[in-house]
Amino acid sequence: MVGLPGAGKTTRARELAAAHDALRLTPDEWMISLFDGTQPDGKRDLVEGRLIALALRALSVGTDVVLDFGLWGRDERSALRWLAVSVGASCRVVYLPVAEDVQRARIAHRQATAPHTTFPMAEADIGVWRDQFQAPDAAELRGGPTIPNPPSGWTGWQAWAVDRWPSLDLEPPGAS
Ligand SMILES: Nc1ncnc2c1ncn2[C@@H]1O[C@H](COP(=O)(O)OP(=O)(O)OP(=O)(O)O)[C@@H](O)[C@H]1O
Ligand SMILES: [Mg+2]
Repeated sequence: MVGLPGAGKTTRARELAAAHDALRLTPDEWMISLFDGTQPDGKRDLVEGRLIALALRALSVGTDVVLDFGLWGRDERSALRWLAVSVGASCRVVYLPVAEDVQRARIAHRQATAPHTTFPMAEADIGVWRDQFQAPDAAELRGGPTIPNPPSGWTGWQAWAVDRWPSLDLEPPGAS
């Protein structure tokens, strides 16, 4: 899943998981219960790294996975596409664009009706996040076999991913 907060990722991820008998991995569910509704520095990256490792293990044993992360960065998406292919899976980028007024209304509604499912979001942050977000391009959405190269200085996506998600403990092929 790719999209900004309030875009509807978790809502769609639930539908996809039900339709495809897939394992849905939603970092917010883990963050909220592990850290009592707070977001200590760096912990989200660690949670995400463990969930990616879990996703790859699930794919290796033939279970489909819906990775319900925001994935704002093109490099993050390329790394995950590469990792999926590395365990013999295919990968689809599901992008949910959202207009700013709709996004703001959804975030406010969710905060009012289901605050235990989300982190509070400041109105001012929403515009900043929209500027930071890198929308997927047509090639990513098509999901062809060609994955862009990692940024210069990196030998491959595996090394890039372990740096981005330090708890991503990649297992050798065939390990269970
Ligand atoms: N297609 C839709 N139409 C109307 N409301 C929607 C739609 N999709 C989601 N919503 C509502 O918008 C709110 C945000 O949706 P959701 O929690 O799925 O977003 P999200 O992308 O997972 O956000 P976050 O990144 O913060 O986890 C929820 O209250 C949800 O019920
Ligand atoms: Mg969500």
